[in-house]
Amino acid sequence: MLVALLHILIPLLIASVVYYYGINRILGLPPGPPPLPLIGNMLSFKWDLDRVLLDWKARYGRIFTVWLPFPMVVIGDYEVLQKHVVKDGDVFLAKRNAEQLNEIMLGGPYGLVFEDNKIVKEQRKFALKSLHEVGFGSAALEDVVHHNAIEVVNRWRKSEGAAVDVTDNIMKAISNVVWSIIFGDNVDFDSEMVTKFRQLQQSGLPLMGGPFMMFIEYVPALRKLDFLFGSPIKRLQAIMDETNTMLKEAIETTKKSFNPSADLPRCYVEAFLREMKKNEEAGKPAGNFHPQQMQMSAATLWGAGVETTVSTLRLCCLELVNHPDVQLKLQKEIDDVIGERRIRLDDQKVLPYTCAFLQEIYRIGHVLPINFLRQTTQDTEIEGMSIAAGTTVLPQFSMVHYDPKEFERPDYFCPERHIDNGQFVKDPRITPFSIGKRNCLGEPLARMEIFVLFATFIQKCHFSTVGKVPPPVTFVTNFGRSVHPFTVKIDPRN
Ligand code: HEM
Repeated sequence: MLVALLHILIPLLIASVVYYYGINRILGLPPGPPPLPLIGNMLSFKWDLDRVLLDWKARYGRIFTVWLPFPMVVIGDYEVLQKHVVKDGDVFLAKRNAEQLNEIMLGGPYGLVFEDNKIVKEQRKFALKSLHEVGFGSAALEDVVHHNAIEVVNRWRKSEGAAVDVTDNIMKAISNVVWSIIFGDNVDFDSEMVTKFRQLQQSGLPLMGGPFMMFIEYVPALRKLDFLFGSPIKRLQAIMDETNTMLKEAIETTKKSFNPSADLPRCYVEAFLREMKKNEEAGKPAGNFHPQQMQMSAATLWGAGVETTVSTLRLCCLELVNHPDVQLKLQKEIDDVIGERRIRLDDQKVLPYTCAFLQEIYRIGHVLPINFLRQTTQDTEIEGMSIAAGTTVLPQFSMVHYDPKEFERPDYFCPERHIDNGQFVKDPRITPFSIGKRNCLGEPLARMEIFVLFATFIQKCHFSTVGKVPPPVTFVTNFGRSVHPFTVKIDPRN
């Protein structure tokens, strides 16, 4: 009996040791922390993973493998990211999409974030062209953003010493801008629909980011045990049902005022409807320009475009009350250079300290704790190691932002590090919108919104602590990353 047991146990033990120390080598992957069978390195997993990843980078090299719970090659080194993910863009174009999550949330690989790798080039190209047509980079869109900025500060200026959570008004301003880009309508600043839409998204984020969602990608059969884990799938589906009903209504409203013979589309949905019509009239097959792709592109533009920008602006306000000296410098710069006239995007050239502040915000405030996964499209070589086609890659640019080898005291908030001889120094190592051919599609809009809104906040308002001690700068991390709720006091300036 004992001998039989040993016959089973000894090979099992040997297999476990070989797996633990040798599985990466056997699979031709770069070295990394030894993974446990089934759960890989999940015991070390937390959403704010950069510090753990930086430790592993120090131990295993500039690229390394982690199992979360499946294997992925992590690249979190500035030079390696540039040399490979940027320069060999096509090799890192494809994403390793979360198939189960895609099916639960989008009904399949549609939209503009997790779409089928075969349609990425076409849909990105179309989206970039359409977003440009509907106003990216235009003075008209800047006017809309400035109008919303003034609405926010006017409300804050009436707060009369009360404790203010800045989230609500920032969210309304950003939502209105993004909504008009997607659906063409300028909704009321206090639109309940927009607030509801954001609430739905907010309640979905923690569910999307739970460990259960990671495991169902690995073992899809686990989906049936949803009820044992607090029913995250069922709850996500309910949120998506409600979201989809609202999206359909918004698209129907856009269709009612859609004028196909206008020179340019008013919004993304109109651009999509024009493309569908063009194909139909030319007798061409609809291809990927079908209602599901339109609806999911709208959903993903909304999902990607609101919370990210709101989080960044919230962080700006929180850092202001944590660094009153920095706020005074910002106020002085804007008073001296701009005075009372309207802020314009072009003022970036004459506001070096404001640009330095925002670059420091972009360094510490990445909005995705773990970047989206890519998948190599062909065999390649990184750091002398062969990486096979189809390997999952995590281009974790935020590791660079927090790497003490790149930035002295990386946890310390210091706009001055971006100033040299009174001039702002743009830092190519800071890439909050990611890198390569899947970088953020909304970067020009987001940068413009953040600059115009933030500079207007400084011009018109003074932010201070409610009590004596400012709220800490700590992050809630799940699928997204943003600072914990906080309140401030806001007094009018000028
Ligand atoms: C401060 C604001 C924002 C930040 C920091 C940000 C950051 C990011 C990051 C890190 C990614 C992932 C890139 C990757 O997979 O490597 C991303 C993707 C994306 N973002 Fe943004 N984003 C912001 C605002 C926006 C806005 C305003 C829009 C559009 C209205 C937008 C649309 C998208 C889309 C469509 C993708 C997916 C691109 C693709 O997979 O090909 N984002 N963003």
